[in-house]
Amino acid sequence: MSTSRGGFSSRLGFILAAAGSAVGLGNIWGFPTQTATNGGAAFVLVYLVLAFCLAYPAFMAELLIGRYGQANAVTSMQKMSRTQWQKHFAFIVGFGGIVCAALILSFYGILAGWMMSFAIEPVTSLLGFNQGSTWLTSQSIARNLIFTALFMLLTISIIRKGVEEGIEKWSKRLMPMLIGLLILLIIYVFTLEGAAEGFSAYLNPDISRVFEPGLLISALGQAFFSLSLGTSVMIIYGSYISKKENLVSLGAQVTLIDVSIAFLAGLLIIPSMYVAQSQGVAIFSDDGSLISGPNLVFDVLPTLFDGMGAIGLFVGFGFFVLMSIAALTSSISMLEGPVSFAVERHDVDRKKATTYVGLGIFALSALIVLNFDLLFGLVIAISTVYGQPMIAMLCCVFVGWIWHRSDILEEIKQGNDTVQDTLFWKIWPWYTKFVCPSAIAIVFWHSL
Ligand code: TRP
Repeated sequence: MSTSRGGFSSRLGFILAAAGSAVGLGNIWGFPTQTATNGGAAFVLVYLVLAFCLAYPAFMAELLIGRYGQANAVTSMQKMSRTQWQKHFAFIVGFGGIVCAALILSFYGILAGWMMSFAIEPVTSLLGFNQGSTWLTSQSIARNLIFTALFMLLTISIIRKGVEEGIEKWSKRLMPMLIGLLILLIIYVFTLEGAAEGFSAYLNPDISRVFEPGLLISALGQAFFSLSLGTSVMIIYGSYISKKENLVSLGAQVTLIDVSIAFLAGLLIIPSMYVAQSQGVAIFSDDGSLISGPNLVFDVLPTLFDGMGAIGLFVGFGFFVLMSIAALTSSISMLEGPVSFAVERHDVDRKKATTYVGLGIFALSALIVLNFDLLFGLVIAISTVYGQPMIAMLCCVFVGWIWHRSDILEEIKQGNDTVQDTLFWKIWPWYTKFVCPSAIAIVFWHSL
């Protein structure tokens, strides 16, 4: 079966694809922004703890569901169900995740479109097309529709090729580029005046803030968003891994890469802001906090690049290409969730399914672009603030309370003969049953 539905050809293929899904705008934009608004290093510290203690176990639950079921989220969870109500529950959780992935892609595609238009702007500037540059960097319905469409076309063209030729091949090409670009940009920014101050603002924790409920909630939300949890994506990626692989260590490696890249992105963004400040750009808002959100990426940083003169064109180009690549390796995984469902449950040809689902999601993006003030924030809130944590929690409930314990242990043992001697074996099943769902529920409750 696994040959007919495709799969990752190697460990590295899976690691880069799953890390590609995890590493996205959430790491390079979201994480530094959250760090800036939540007291610098205190946030980084809490994030690291929560990522390994809560997000990683939940991530393992999703990978294991997928590898056990060898199918899309709904089918995989239904394979674990024994009674009729469990099958209904499996459908709600699995399908909920698929809808969540589609909703996330609908707004993510718009953001990614902005990144692409800002990446092209240095080229038009260099060629002297000033009007073109202004159009590319100003908000307009036409620009947003065109670039969202371009980005969706790229995403669709990769997913149409399938798991090995599409997802794996492109993740292997794009992820090294992303890491290389990130490191080059960090090195360059560090040579500039003001970077040292940003560096210390990023790395000196204000320990008194560590237990603030607001900070805990933001950090957990960020960790779940970053590992793409609660969206069926890690279930479907898990289903493409061979039974010979050691899932426990693969999952840990992906988490480590995800967290490290978020950390590195902070090393780029926060010092960049202080460099901008030393050039006279305002980086604090009226309430004294660091500017974050869209203003940071589309005002503060471009102003910084402009101030660098000719080299700024290259730095700006590199930065927005980095953002676009990060978005693309995530968006392909978001599209894979709904596409694999359509292919496996409704027997649609993969290429057709990809095109139809992709166009459907683009239609949703267009609706958001045309009703931006009303829909943009709403779709983000529904999918990431409510949907993701709730579905991730239900996945843990599913594994902890519905899946047979002996089957879980059997699945963990596949490809990992010595797992019985590890801490993971002793703690994880119990942890996923009690600790993960309650912790997610508590944080979720607070955030309401
Ligand atoms: N992890 C991605 C990021 O950090 C965003 C994301 C959230 C995602 N949910 C997802 C990606 C589902 C793919 C699938 O930007």
